[in-house]
Amino acid sequence: MAGAMASFWRNALVVLTLLFALSAPAGAVTNPTDTLALQAFYKTLEDPSGNLNSWTGSDPCKNAWRGVVCTEPQGLGNVTFVQELRLFNLNLGGTLAPELGNLSKLLYFDVMWNHMTGSIPSTFGKLTSMYLLLLNGNRFTGILPPELGNLSGLNRIQIDQNQISGPVPPEFVGLTSIQHLHMNNNTLNGSLPKELGSLPNLVHILLDNNNLSGYLPPEIGNAPQLLIIQLDNNKFAPDATIPSSWGNRSTLLKLSLRNCGLVGNIPDIGGLTQLEVLDLSNNNLTGTIPNKTAFPVELTYLDLSNNQLTGQIPDSIGNLQNMSMLLLRNNQLSGPVPANLGAGATWHVQTGQKLIDLQNNQLTSFNESLAALESNSTTHVRFSGNPAICNPNTALTSQNPVCVPNYDVLANPYDDNVPVEIPPNTCQTCKYITVGYRLKSPGFTVFDLYNQQFLAYLSSGLNLSQSQVVLQDYMWQQGPRLKMTIRLYPVGNNTFNQSEFDRLYNSFSAWKIPDSPVFGPYELISFDPRSLSAYETNSKGGLAKGAIAGIVIGAAVFTMAVTALLLFLFYRRRQNLPPALRAQIERLNRAKRNPALKVAGVKAFTFEELAQATDNFSDEKQIGQGGYGKVYLGNLMDGKKQVAIKRAEQGSLQGAHEFYTEIELLSRVHHRNLVMLEGYCDDEGEQMLVYEYMPGGTLRDHLSSKYYVLSKSSLGFRLTQCARK
Ligand SMILES: *[C@@H]1O[C@H](CO)[C@@H](O)[C@H](O)[C@H]1NC(C)=O
Ligand SMILES: *[C@@H]1O[C@H](CO)[C@@H](O)[C@H](O)[C@H]1NC(C)=O
Ligand SMILES: *[C@@H]1O[C@H](CO)[C@@H](O)[C@H](O)[C@H]1NC(C)=O
Ligand SMILES: *[C@@H]1O[C@H](CO)[C@@H](O)[C@H](O)[C@H]1NC(C)=O
Ligand SMILES: *[C@@H]1O[C@H](CO)[C@@H](O)[C@H](O)[C@H]1NC(C)=O
Ligand SMILES: *[C@@H]1O[C@H](CO)[C@@H](O)[C@H](O)[C@H]1NC(C)=O
Ligand SMILES: *[C@@H]1O[C@H](CO)[C@@H](O)[C@H](O)[C@H]1NC(C)=O
Ligand SMILES: *[C@@H]1O[C@H](CO)[C@@H](O)[C@H](O)[C@H]1NC(C)=O
Ligand SMILES: *[C@@H]1O[C@H](CO)[C@@H](O)[C@H](O)[C@H]1NC(C)=O
Ligand SMILES: *[C@@H]1O[C@H](CO)[C@@H](O)[C@H](O)[C@H]1NC(C)=O
Ligand SMILES: *[C@@H]1O[C@H](CO)[C@@H](O)[C@H](O)[C@H]1NC(C)=O
Ligand SMILES: *[C@@H]1O[C@H](CO)[C@@H](O)[C@H](O)[C@H]1NC(C)=O
Repeated sequence: MAGAMASFWRNALVVLTLLFALSAPAGAVTNPTDTLALQAFYKTLEDPSGNLNSWTGSDPCKNAWRGVVCTEPQGLGNVTFVQELRLFNLNLGGTLAPELGNLSKLLYFDVMWNHMTGSIPSTFGKLTSMYLLLLNGNRFTGILPPELGNLSGLNRIQIDQNQISGPVPPEFVGLTSIQHLHMNNNTLNGSLPKELGSLPNLVHILLDNNNLSGYLPPEIGNAPQLLIIQLDNNKFAPDATIPSSWGNRSTLLKLSLRNCGLVGNIPDIGGLTQLEVLDLSNNNLTGTIPNKTAFPVELTYLDLSNNQLTGQIPDSIGNLQNMSMLLLRNNQLSGPVPANLGAGATWHVQTGQKLIDLQNNQLTSFNESLAALESNSTTHVRFSGNPAICNPNTALTSQNPVCVPNYDVLANPYDDNVPVEIPPNTCQTCKYITVGYRLKSPGFTVFDLYNQQFLAYLSSGLNLSQSQVVLQDYMWQQGPRLKMTIRLYPVGNNTFNQSEFDRLYNSFSAWKIPDSPVFGPYELISFDPRSLSAYETNSKGGLAKGAIAGIVIGAAVFTMAVTALLLFLFYRRRQNLPPALRAQIERLNRAKRNPALKVAGVKAFTFEELAQATDNFSDEKQIGQGGYGKVYLGNLMDGKKQVAIKRAEQGSLQGAHEFYTEIELLSRVHHRNLVMLEGYCDDEGEQMLVYEYMPGGTLRDHLSSKYYVLSKSSLGFRLTQCARK
């Protein structure tokens, strides 16, 4: 029903927008070649949702075709040209017509996040005015036409997440204005052309998740503005090495060469003075970790795990102040751990789950400050699999500080979707804009340490006040990339007006938000509502077909909504509600109370379900008692599954936010030696946590403490404090 109401308002908005549509200047005429090109494109497009129903008039500019932005009338004949094509996320299929190459004044071409197929026409090489070429998130195939190398004004090419194959053409040396080459997640093959090293403005090379082969060209180290090289998951030649010149590219913020089959030594990276992220993991690198010069002082993330590195861990790593992940596991590092390792400032910050992972090396001693980190900060230290420092059978002491199994959740930085509390003072009646946004190559891995800085950066980039920009949720994805949902709030109780709306949309979709060294490049995934946008207007008097359809659908939806509401009220009065409907209503009510709180991967139980599982919380089923409340043994699914249910006493109830934060944290921990969270219950004024049941051991004691996820201490694993506040 909530969905139906939402679509009612969406339809209503479309109608309003159409009623107030602006008209194109009278007398101006679209350049006929441009009109022909768009008409040809319309024929090769598939538009199952009718998003381009406005493409029926005879003149694209005059008739305000959706997504078509034109120049001012020019010359004697008052001719306008197509300047932008913005067909972002419109459920379009079909192919790109070669005639598009005739749009002589085209600046932006944006068909991101549709499902278009076919190849990129070589005629795109004629679009010499082009500034942004945005094809990512489709199903394009074929090769990258070498003719694109003629686009000397091109700033950005995004073809990521398609199935484009063949080589990166050496002709791209002609892209003298290019800053952004975003081509990850395709099947590009052949070697990386050395010509990219001579592109004077190139800042990002994102070619991870392709099928590149050959060698890493030393020349790339010459690109004077280069900030990011990300080539993970390619299959370079069996004897490919990291060119030493890359260690000299002082502008570099990120070098990510994970799982590239590289051999040889790590070059001296002392010249990478700005470097924040270095990921060389899952290769076959040998030799020592370079220690001739200081390590880059800005490093936040260093991953050299799964190689064959030998020698000592250099002292200079210990001094780094901004580190939040140091991953050296599965190498042959030897000798003592440097005395200063763990002394860096971030390790001691009580925010975010940070990790030092030294497992499975030949390290012979540890230092006490690392042991202290593990016991009293949010930094986790992993030591097992090293000789002489870890004896799982003895008690936890500073001589035997930490001996824990591989902690997979923390060892890679991927999280489930994390809902964020929406500040209560955010305008309740405002119509906000919801933006799907993704950082493609961030310079950090623990977002907790950066989210305030991020909101400040984004609001300043959008020229909004910080209170207008609110994070709704975020999620780490493979890459690692950080996907977020952001809300933009108008000031007061209003909506954004048309020009503000357009300005915001433009800031995202034309990449007007300046790049930040820490947050790296971003991509726009969605922008809702879209209906305020000028691109959806249809200027000719009267209502367009789409508007009439909108009214009809809107009315139908409204009728359905009213019916559903009446049914709902009717049923609510009844004493004997069907249980399924009642549960549904309760879920809705709960969702209303906690609109942003939803935890992926764990089940929300009802009070009845848990009462039934524990014979109404009978004394026989009680297996523990703690300050927090009682613990019961429960049977789910007709006795097929045993669970432990921790039920809070009235005095111990937490605020909704604390409760969901705890659930969310617990839900992220999945490990065979840890008690897994199965679900929770927030119903009828009760708060309960449902864990998998581990018979025997000291489970009872474990569950009675409020904030601990516990492992079986009989196996020598220590407590992992998981939800410190
Ligand atoms: C061109 O536009 C101007 C002002 O908009 C108008 O005065 C003029 O008549 C137009 N010319 C043609 C040929 O339409
Ligand atoms: C436009 O492009 C097509 C195909 O690329 C071509 O056949 C046609 O002659 C071009 N010119 C005009 C004026 O449409
Ligand atoms: C465009 O590129 C192609 C292939 O790279 C080349 O043959 C052609 O001469 C170029 N055209 C212009 C106008 O530069
Ligand atoms: C890119 O490809 C990798 C490997 O196939 C996959 O794990 C990842 O999810 C993909 N990323 C995107 C954004 O499609
Ligand atoms: C790239 O892939 C194509 C087919 O997908 C193949 O014909 C070609 O030989 C490959 N090139 C290289 C350098 O591997
Ligand atoms: C990648 O390249 C290898 C060798 O050239 C080939 O066998 C494989 O099919 C390619 N993979 C894809 C996804 O194109
Ligand atoms: C690094 O840069 C310095 C100075 O520009 C130069 O002398 C040196 O040869 C470079 N090293 C490499 C490996 O390119
Ligand atoms: C590293 O090299 C060994 C032997 O040369 C090989 O068996 C192994 O697969 C390689 N590992 C990677 C990640 O390339
Ligand atoms: C570390 O991070 C802080 C805040 O992000 C920054 O101000 C500082 O310059 C960074 N570098 C060092 C070496 O501390
Ligand atoms: C630096 O590396 C060399 C080997 O290249 C090693 O002999 C030396 O002990 C290392 N020094 C430190 C402080 O790690
Ligand atoms: C940190 O932990 C160590 C023991 O591991 C302890 O001696 C020390 O007092 C703790 N520091 C603080 C500030 O709690
Ligand atoms: C917004 O509207 C609510 C109730 O409609 C009112 O109480 C509040 O003061 C308004 N806020 C602003 C900033 O206008």
